[in-house]
Amino acid sequence: MLGAGADELSYEIRAIVRKAEQIKALGQEIVWENIGDPVQKNAQVPAWIKEIISDLAKKNETYSYCHSKGVLATRQFLAEKSNALGGVQISSEDILFFNGLGDAISKIYQFLLPTARVIGPSPAYSTHSSGEAAHANDHPVTYKLDPANNWYPDMEDLYNKIKYNPNIVGILIINPDNPTGRVYPLEILKQFVSIAKEFNLFLVTDEIYVNVTYNGAKAYSLPEYIDDVPGIALKGLSKEVPWPGSRCGWAKFYNREKDIEFNKLCNTLENAKMLEVSSTKLPQLAIPRIFGDPRYPGHLANNNKKIGQRSKLVSEILKKVDSIYFNETQGAFYNTIVFKEGKLKSSQKLHIENRKIRDLVESWVSDPKMPLDRRFVYYLLGAKGICVVPISSFCSDLMGFRVTLLEENEETLVRTFEGIKEALGEYLNSVIQTSPAYS
Ligand SMILES: Cc1ncc(COP(=O)(O)O)c(C=O)c1O
Repeated sequence: MLGAGADELSYEIRAIVRKAEQIKALGQEIVWENIGDPVQKNAQVPAWIKEIISDLAKKNETYSYCHSKGVLATRQFLAEKSNALGGVQISSEDILFFNGLGDAISKIYQFLLPTARVIGPSPAYSTHSSGEAAHANDHPVTYKLDPANNWYPDMEDLYNKIKYNPNIVGILIINPDNPTGRVYPLEILKQFVSIAKEFNLFLVTDEIYVNVTYNGAKAYSLPEYIDDVPGIALKGLSKEVPWPGSRCGWAKFYNREKDIEFNKLCNTLENAKMLEVSSTKLPQLAIPRIFGDPRYPGHLANNNKKIGQRSKLVSEILKKVDSIYFNETQGAFYNTIVFKEGKLKSSQKLHIENRKIRDLVESWVSDPKMPLDRRFVYYLLGAKGICVVPISSFCSDLMGFRVTLLEENEETLVRTFEGIKEALGEYLNSVIQTSPAYS
């Protein structure tokens, strides 16, 4: 009954929760390092933002549908903000609201021909890679991000994949990146544009973390570097306000009149929204008031400073660990730690004191087909109660895991990452190295 694409829909960020809950039921406290929800990690939304929202909740007009593209005044506000960057200009007509960016992501790929492919990064935030693969009934088409080179994209890999695959119609860039925490410099972004020009492709940029940068990094937005290439920039409220429960995200279409097929894609997305009547209205009404408030820049700066400090603390703890690639982050609030080639073995273990938990973890890892990073993640969960996500589930052949930088309590943060460091040491050394008989 189902197409092959159905197999591509998996979301380990949430699936790992089912495993962690089983461990928790056996008495182990869990530190949730799996999901990028700042509020779940005790970030406080400032009182002035809550007042804006409660004030809107008292108004009758908040309860109606809105324009199917989104509230006009909000689209005008966002178009002006984009235009103020001084790059490619848009109008309110080029902005389309969705029920969260997840909704936008799945729609963008859904209406392309199954043979028309958008190449995306590997590792990647899996909503993109799974959504794109599901539309194509095939595995994702990817370019490599290189942990041995600051997590920068491997441009040669990207170029060759595009050159030899005429089905590729677009390139996805996630900047700042989830899951690596890398912010791309302008020269790299311009290289994407020049490849798009050469092969007549459009660009999609996921900029949900564009204002989540720290320790001196700056993220560029699509209109600042896209030139005359058609492109879609994606943004939402989940991460920076932070308000993930708002389910509010939007797409900005740049240079849509420069390519007939691209313009058709934008029109199709607008028509699809029309069929749904409209997206969530209350958060849209709140956007000009929140983003336009003189307190907002200070709020962002304060949040970013805290994430930047956590990034440094984590770096202090993990940067010298042998056998892994560790890159200090500059944006978003994740880090991806990768095991060097050949360092993981199917016989490695962590000691788990509680016998029931040990038996459960050992039953999970007995599957010989299990990726080796997932094996480590399950042991980490059982031995230390730390719930991270294996990087093999982020559309990647690399072996590693993603952590978050969201823990508000510094003591817990340090304890968690010291625990990870200890687990890495114990796990990697748990195989008795037998020396070869002849050397
Ligand atoms: C890169 C990226 N894009 C999109 C989303 C989804 O955002 P939303 O909550 O608006 O659906 C996330 C959520 O983690 C993300 O990391």
